Amino acid sequence: MSHTKAKLSGVSPILVGLMGSGKSSIGRRLSKRLMLPLIDLDDYIMDKAGCSIPQIFEQDGEAVFRQMETDALREVVGRPAVIATGGGAVLSETNRRILKEHPPVIWLKASPEFLADRIDGDSNRPLIAAGDTLNRLRELAEIRYPLYEECADFVLPRGDMKKPEALRSIMDFLTDWTIR
Ligand code: S3P
Repeated sequence: MSHTKAKLSGVSPILVGLMGSGKSSIGRRLSKRLMLPLIDLDDYIMDKAGCSIPQIFEQDGEAVFRQMETDALREVVGRPAVIATGGGAVLSETNRRILKEHPPVIWLKASPEFLADRIDGDSNRPLIAAGDTLNRLRELAEIRYPLYEECADFVLPRGDMKKPEALRSIMDFLTDWTIR
């Protein structure tokens, strides 16, 4: 079955997952395929704040960033778009409720081991700025996996799966999901 836009019209998927799991890059491909804009929540927050995520963390602290994240999520959900959230978007109960009210939510599930090499030393990610990336990711995964699980309508296992295959798998899910 081909994946036409008509068949999937009205679908606005939201991507969740740990940093480095490919939410932005897979989101970009998915948005092209669905002919929808991509809203990257971190970019949206940066545009609004007029500064970078590390600057927000440094100047205002994580709690302020999380409030901005909730405000941004509220503003963009429901738009015809693919939304790529930041890795910590599931931490707030309010955000989880918003996500569950706006399916489909797709979890790009990747292990800390898979992610560590990809994001090690990335100065744009304050939560791993202190180094020890693998252990930090393990801590984050322990807290967040159940939260991603709670919100997800579909779990995409990353790992060896290349991006075209990941995209195909998401499109198959979306096709099934829309004709349920
Ligand atoms: C964060 C992930 C980042 C960004 C911020 C906090 C997190 O987004 O929102 O640095 O808590 O995991 P990415 O997942 O796009 O890196």
